[in-house]
Parts: sequence; C-alpha cells; structure tokens
Amino acid sequence: MVGKYVYGTPFETDAVVVELEAVNGSPGYGAISLDSGFCFTCKLEPQDVVYGLGEANRGINKRGYCYVSNCTDMPEHTEDQRSLYAAHNFIVVSGSQTFGLFVDYPAKLTFDIGYTRMDTLIITCEEANLYLYVLEGETPYDIVKEFRRIIGQSYIPPKFAFGFGQSRWGYMTKEDYRKVAEGYRKNQIPLDMIYMDIDYMEAYKDFTLNHKNFQNFPEFVQEMKDQHLHLIPIIDAGVKVEKGYEVYEEGVKNRYFCQREDGSDFVAAVWPGDTHFPDVLNPEARKWFGDHYQFLTDQGIDGFWNDMNEPAIFYTPEGIQAAKDTIEAFLKDTQGDISIFEVRDAVLNLANNPRDYASFYHQVEGQLVRHDKVHNLFGYLMTRAAGEAFARIDPEKRFLIFSRSSYIGMHRYGGIWTGDNKSWWSHLLLNLKMMPSLNMCGFLYTGADLGGFGADTTRDLMLRWLALGVFTPLMRNHAAKGTRDQEAYRFEQVEDFRHMIEVRYRLIPYLYSEYMKAALEGDLYFKPLAFLYPEDAHATQVEDQLMLGNEIMIAPVYTQNATGRYVYLPEEMLFVKFLPDETLYKKILPAGHHYVEIALNEVPLFIRKGACIPLAQPAQHVEALDTTHMTLIGYPGSQYVLYEDDGVHKDYQNPENYRTLRL
Ligand code: GLC
Repeated sequence: MVGKYVYGTPFETDAVVVELEAVNGSPGYGAISLDSGFCFTCKLEPQDVVYGLGEANRGINKRGYCYVSNCTDMPEHTEDQRSLYAAHNFIVVSGSQTFGLFVDYPAKLTFDIGYTRMDTLIITCEEANLYLYVLEGETPYDIVKEFRRIIGQSYIPPKFAFGFGQSRWGYMTKEDYRKVAEGYRKNQIPLDMIYMDIDYMEAYKDFTLNHKNFQNFPEFVQEMKDQHLHLIPIIDAGVKVEKGYEVYEEGVKNRYFCQREDGSDFVAAVWPGDTHFPDVLNPEARKWFGDHYQFLTDQGIDGFWNDMNEPAIFYTPEGIQAAKDTIEAFLKDTQGDISIFEVRDAVLNLANNPRDYASFYHQVEGQLVRHDKVHNLFGYLMTRAAGEAFARIDPEKRFLIFSRSSYIGMHRYGGIWTGDNKSWWSHLLLNLKMMPSLNMCGFLYTGADLGGFGADTTRDLMLRWLALGVFTPLMRNHAAKGTRDQEAYRFEQVEDFRHMIEVRYRLIPYLYSEYMKAALEGDLYFKPLAFLYPEDAHATQVEDQLMLGNEIMIAPVYTQNATGRYVYLPEEMLFVKFLPDETLYKKILPAGHHYVEIALNEVPLFIRKGACIPLAQPAQHVEALDTTHMTLIGYPGSQYVLYEDDGVHKDYQNPENYRTLRL
C-alpha cells in the first residue's frame, strides 16, 4: 500500500514510475509542519530500527545519527560526514510502527534519526514543495519490495560486468594498458575489464582521445577484445571551455550549458580547468550530451563510468576572486580584524561551495531553475542521458554504465560505485554495510573501490577486501594516482590473489542468477539478516553479515590481523570455505554463535539449510565460463533454479532462461 501526498509544487524527478492518485489529508504517521519549509516528525520507540538511505554513512540501522541528502564529492568520508556522493531519500521505520517514507525532493534534505532527540525522527528541508510517499506493509521487507515496485526495474548490465575489473588513475598509454592485461593474463588471474581514467582523453575533454597515446583506437579496443578484455572509459560531467572543441562549441551555440542569472554560461573548474556543465535537466541538452557517447561506442566501447557528477566543483572564478579579496584584506589588516582561519577557510571552501551551487540555472520547460533547488538530480540525469542514448544506439544491447553521484530513479539507467574511499579497514566494513541499503533504494549493480582508492593499501587489506568484493556485483580494484600499486599481480604470493578472484568466477553463475532474479522481481540481492529472520531478536542486531540472494549468507573478515571472526547463524547452515588449493572445506554448523577460522587466502560463505548453489570451474574471463558442467554444493536433496541468458541482449522474459539443478 502506498499513499502519495503532495506538498506545494513539487519538482518532477521521475523517480516514481507508477501512476498513483494523490491522497488528501495527513499521512497517518508522525506529524507534518509547513510553518518553515517542510518538517516531518515522528516518535521512535527504543526498539525501533530505521533502514534505508542507500549510499549513506554508518550502519544498516541508521538510528542515532544525522544524514544530509546533498550529493557531495567527499573522498575523506570519516564517520562524521553527513553527506556522501548520492541522495537516496527512502527509509523504513520498523518496530512499534512499521512504515516506509520516500521524500521525493531534489534539494538538500536532512534525516535526523534520533540524533537531536534520541526518541525522535525529524525530516526537514527548506521548501515545502515535494511528494511524500508513505508505504505500508507487514514487514520492512514487504515495504521495500513495494517501494521497488513503484520506482521501476533496476538496471541490468551485460554479463561481462560481473567479471573482475582493474582500474587505476594514472594509466597513460596503450603500453600501460597492455602491461595490466599482461600482468593478469601471464599470472592467470581472471580479468574482464580495464578501466580508462581521465588520462585517455585529450586535455580531459569529454568524448576525445589523446592523439599521441591513442592513435588507431578501434584497433586497440579490438586488440584488448581479442584478449577478452573490455576497456571502460570514464566520462566527466564538465565540458572543457576551449575554442574549437566540438562539444564545447555545440553546447555554447545551442545554449545546452547551465547558465548564470545573466544568461552567460556558468564556469566551474574541474580536471580540465574551466568547464561548463551540460544542462542534463533539459531533455534536449540531455539527448545531445548522450548522443556523444556514440563517439566511443562507434569505436567498439561497450561500457562507461560517469564521474564528477555531483557535480564536483574545484573552484569558480567568482570563488577565486572572493578568496583573493579575503587574502588581500588580511595582508592589509593591521588591526587583527581578520583571522588566519578566515583566510584558510576562504581557500578550503573554494571547492563545492554552496554559494556556487546557488549561482547557476537549468532550463526546465521554459523556466529557469536554480541549481541548488535540484542539485541532487545532476548525476542521475547525466547517467540517464547515457542510458537513453544507449537505447537509441543499440536498443537490444546492454551497455555497462555506472555513476558516482545518483538519486533514486537513476537505478533504472545504471549502477553506481560508492565514490572515493580510502585504504582503511573501516571503509571495508562501510562497504559491507552500505550494500543492503543501496539495494533497498533500487541500486543493485554496485560496489566500492576494492583495496581502497586513496592512501596506500596493504596486502592483507587487499585480500580481505577482495573476499567481500567476490560477492558485490561490481568487483573493481581502483586506486588513486600517487598511491602504492595495487593490481592483484603486484603483491607477494600472487597465487593467493589468483585464488580469490578465481572464486569469484566460480560463483558467477550463481551471483548472476541471483542478480537477475532480484532485478526482474524487484527483490534484494543483499539483505540484512533481519529481513529473512524477523522473529530472531539477535539476527536484527547483526550488521556485519549479509544474506545474498536466497541461498547464502556472507560474513567477511574486516579486522586487521584477525585470523577468523565470530558469526551468528539464525539457523543451521553449511559453512563453506574456498581453500587456496581449490578444494572446499565444508561443515554443518548449528544455529547460534560460532568463531570460525578464516585465513587471509580463504573465502568463506554459508549455505542456508536445505539449499544448494552451483559452482563453475574457474575461468580467465566471463565468456569462458562453462555453465554446462557445474557442481552443486549444499544440502543433499535440494535444488536450485538457475537463471541464465546470453548476457548481452535484453531477452529477459524467455522461460528458457530458467533451469532447475538438483543435488
Ligand atoms: C575522481 C573519481 C576517481 C577518479 C579520479 C580521476 O576522484 O572518483 O575514481 O580516479 O576522479 O578521474
């Protein structure tokens, strides 16, 4: 059951795709005040749990902190950060009352979940122009499924995107890419994708190739394809300001860029220096920007990642001027009126400054809309531009696309990665906790930068992170320029890395099948334990184990120097470890608490009582997986319904895609 409530004049975000009649009156949960903007308050009882918020900081249960939906370039996301790269305004309150809320509002929105007052949920935003969807159901799981129904089917990538990918900011030349390909293939470590970061472009200009380094690009794409490797280039939000550059010239001529109040094109500096932002809120401009992806698809490219689309701003000319004024005033100040901290802040606040976000406009149906009023839609609509373009370029083919920034609705067009993280053990745990929340908001194709993006990784962190990444649909190793090399073949005892990644490939038939079922049925790929064992008071507390699909539970190790961990089993399960000699350790464990030993080079999983999963032989790339000779592991007498398709086209509804395997 969904109730749709309308306040003021909401902005149409297209997050919800099901037509719903608006309901009059009050939602029946909490209290709403429109005295100053919009404010929803509701009492929380001590036992109430709050789920949701997708890509947000902290735990699966969001209680006890304050989260701000305001898409932000936030590489330093320590525990106190309230805004990350995305804005996913869906929560479920579970306990004394059980209900879901989706606040469809594209500007800054605050969820104070027992932070100011421990017994109160407070949702506030500046303007009372929004849709509030109130969802009811027996359980939080039912409510999530109902929410997924109204926001439409999640994006489905091609099957190769379930392989392993290597990325690094700093690969410059064809030779660099060849070395990566060789590093993997020579060491027999499976690989399907190599990501191309900004240096493949000419001066960081979107839809260009560096002439010196990437001559005969289609041949190079083919050379990689011959090794069963897909090159996945990055596309940034900002279009470089440069006379004669086609994309820039077209955008200026057709007024496709975001503008200042005086009608001039808004300038923001990002990687290329000064750029203009394509006005992806304007359908015509969105189509134009999307069509440019064809420059690369025509050369054989079949996957992309969209970046810097919060949109991130390093500085603006106006911001630089203001900082300069502050510094000059400080230098002339003989009275000590201006503190050094003011100077420091003037410089530090050059990036992603709210003042800048309030100084440019979008064209929406003939009206100018100030950016900060719709800020959280930019990454969504940039990725929608790409998704809609792919559907024009080749309607039957699936393309890989994922974005850094997102809003609910974007889950229909692409996946997301969780933005810049750090080589920190805490970010490995955050990665784990974020996954079910993302799924609740429709984002199924997701993953974090494995090993950590910023800072130097360590061998043990990399291995432990891979043991989680083995299960995330997007499994990509990515690192920042200047950090220690972290390709899998760079470490001591490379056989351990080969083993971890081989386990991924052995599991792909199962993971892909569960992904497809989740996408096609509006279900979750990752669930909190509480969703499957609602009666088990302890299961609802568990935040470091997840249910994956319908058959397994995962419990990765996320602590440095630990040789194992405690797990909680809500029911009897078969504990399986993939050992480095390719054999399996199997043991039935009764319900309850256990300490399990897990070495650095082992991948653990738990099969639910009465279930089984298929296992393939390892392969060097997805296409080489043999799904006709699989073994089943699990409980004797059980069966598994496998979903399998060609992984390339969109023939999802074919009944022949399902077959039953029996153990
Ligand atoms: C941003 C992206 C990161 C990328 C870098 C350079 O920080 O989040 O993934 O490597 O830009 O393009």
